[in-house]
Amino acid sequence: MTAAVIDQAVALLRAGQVVALPTETVYGLGADALNPDAVARIFALKGRPADHPLIVHLPPEAALEDWAADVPAAARALAAAFWPGPLTLILRRHARVPLAVTGGQDTVALRVPDHPLALALLRAFASGIAAPSANRFGHISPTTAAHVRDEFGDAVPLILDGGPCRVGLESTIVDLSRGAPVVLRPGAIGAADITRVTGHAPAAQRAARQAPAPRASGLLARHYAPRTPAELVNGADLPGRLAALAAHGDRVGVLALGRPLGHGLALPDDPPAYGRGLYAALRELDRGGYDRLLIEAPPQDDAWRAVNDRLRRAVATDD
Ligand code: TXA
Ligand code: MG
Repeated sequence: MTAAVIDQAVALLRAGQVVALPTETVYGLGADALNPDAVARIFALKGRPADHPLIVHLPPEAALEDWAADVPAAARALAAAFWPGPLTLILRRHARVPLAVTGGQDTVALRVPDHPLALALLRAFASGIAAPSANRFGHISPTTAAHVRDEFGDAVPLILDGGPCRVGLESTIVDLSRGAPVVLRPGAIGAADITRVTGHAPAAQRAARQAPAPRASGLLARHYAPRTPAELVNGADLPGRLAALAAHGDRVGVLALGRPLGHGLALPDDPPAYGRGLYAALRELDRGGYDRLLIEAPPQDDAWRAVNDRLRRAVATDD
C-alpha cells in the first residue's frame, strides 16, 4: 500500500507534477526541485509571488555540496545534530539549483524533514523536492491531509496522508550564507540549540529584518492568518474584553490557554502541545461563524518564541 503510493508520487514528480506530502512540521506542496516548470506549478497553485523562495527538501543521504556552493562548518554541525528535523539552513546556492526555486536569489533553503512518508518519498525520488507549506498564499499552514484538501480541492493530483503533523509549526530557518547564524523564522529548534551546536548565539529575527537580509515570506507581518479578525489578549483582561464585545453584540470565539472558557477552544499550556494544535484550532475557529477571535496570550519566554511569532502574525492587520 505505502510502496504503491510512493511509486505513484515519484512518477508524478518525474512527470513534472506536484504532490502534497506530510512532514513533521506542516504539509508541503512538493515538486522536482531541478525542474523549473514543475516548480512554476507550485507558485501557480499557491498564488504565491514568484520572488518568494522555496525550501528544497533532501533525502538524508544527499550531499550538501550538491545543493550549496559553500558549506560552512556550522552548517555541517547543525545538519548532523538536527537532520532529519525541523531546521532549514540557508546557504549559498549551487549553480544547478534553478533560480525559480530560490526566487532569483543566490541562496538556497535546505532541509531534511523528519517524517517516515516524506523520507520514503525523498529516498525513492533520490533528489531534492522543492516544497512550500501546502496552503494558498497568506493562509494558515495545513497540519492534516484534510487541511490540504480544503485548500486545493482536486487541483493537487495526489495528497500523501501521513496523519497529523507532530510539530505543527514551520521549521526554524537559520541563515548561514552571510557568516554568523541569523534566525529568520523561529521554530521548534531554538536559539539555545543553535548556540550549543555552533558555539555562536544566533542573531535574532529583528536584526535580520534591518540588515539586507534574504527575503522570507515568513517575515511578512500578516501571514498564517485566519480570515476572522483576531486579537491577542492577556488572560487577566480576557473576561472584561469578552464582556465588552458581547455587550456590543459580537459573537466572539476564544482560543484559551490551558483551560476551556466556554467560548471557542483551549490549547494546552505547554509549548510543544500548543504548537501542535495551533493551526487546526485557528482553522476550526475560522469556520465557527464568529465576528471576532480573542487569543489568550501565552507567556513571553523563550520556550514560547515560535508560538508567539505565529500568533503575532495571525493578529497582524497589514504587511
Ligand atoms: O517546516 C517547513 O519549513 C515547511 C515544510 C513543508 O518543510 N515549509 C515551509 O515552506 O514552511 P514555506 O515556503 O511556507 O516557507 C519557507 C520560508 C519562506 O518564508 C521563504 O521565504 C523562506 O523559507 N526561504 C526560502 N528560501 C529562502 C532563501 N534562500 N533565503 C531566505 N529565506 C528563504
Ligand atoms: Mg508557508
